[in-house]
Amino acid sequence: MAEIVGGVGCSHVPAVGAALDNGKSGNEVWKPYFDTLPPAREWIEEKKPDVCIVVYNDHASAFSMQLIPTFTLGVAPEFQPADEGFGPRKVPTVEGDPDLAWHLAESLILDEFDMTIANEMDVDHGLTVPLSVMFGQPENWPTKVIPLAVNVVQFPPPTGHRCYMLGKALRRAIDSYPGAERVVVFGTGGMSHQLQGERAGLVNSEWDSQFMDNLVNNPAEQAQVPHVEYLREAGTEGVELVMWLIMRGAMNDSVEEVYRSIYVPTSNTSNGLIVLDNA
Ligand code: DHB
Ligand code: FE
Repeated sequence: MAEIVGGVGCSHVPAVGAALDNGKSGNEVWKPYFDTLPPAREWIEEKKPDVCIVVYNDHASAFSMQLIPTFTLGVAPEFQPADEGFGPRKVPTVEGDPDLAWHLAESLILDEFDMTIANEMDVDHGLTVPLSVMFGQPENWPTKVIPLAVNVVQFPPPTGHRCYMLGKALRRAIDSYPGAERVVVFGTGGMSHQLQGERAGLVNSEWDSQFMDNLVNNPAEQAQVPHVEYLREAGTEGVELVMWLIMRGAMNDSVEEVYRSIYVPTSNTSNGLIVLDNA
């Protein structure tokens, strides 16, 4: 059977992608942030995953107000970086895994999670920035990637509990795949941030640390936290963090925290990274 060999929680601050793409990651502004990444990058290099399932959100790039699916699984052979207004990021095309992705679609839907299936879907910073964080700037991404997009842009997003349960169904789906793939699951977005309105610029790193603690040790409890607490404590875009619960649901009940960091000054967002092993 395919095997989940690890989990990653990772923010998707667009400026991180821009710093890399424009050759600025070594300068005095950016180096302190990029210096936080090697432990996570070394971990994933050692894990040698064949496939990463990246749970992420689209920001009105592939979708729009015309079409707002709650959960979308990308089953295509490849996904192009989206043009978010300044041309597509100059990063490799994302190679999919149609066989595993279709297995996931079948397993999840028959397990009563009604996924939308995407045969074509450009992927925006929500997916490509976490790949850059974990893999740097390779010629080609070193693994196949299955995008799992979650609506957290138009209210109502799915509850944390629904996301956690989807993670558990994702685990059952991976466990029942006859291949020998090594799989890392990414939960992305967050941490605390609010990009508009009176509270624009809100950061609450104390709450973010507590979220990470709960994600590791009390995920079922964290899954009960209502949207309104994310909004109040972590800002309107902080609700992206429900996606980390999908990753956590796919891991063992007991996990080991391998690495974490929270680094604020890459934008107005508390930029978090956590790496988990199954215990
Ligand atoms: C930023 C964060 C986001 O999650 C996003 O989608 C866009 C921008 C930011 O930190 O600037
Ligand atoms: Fe975002």
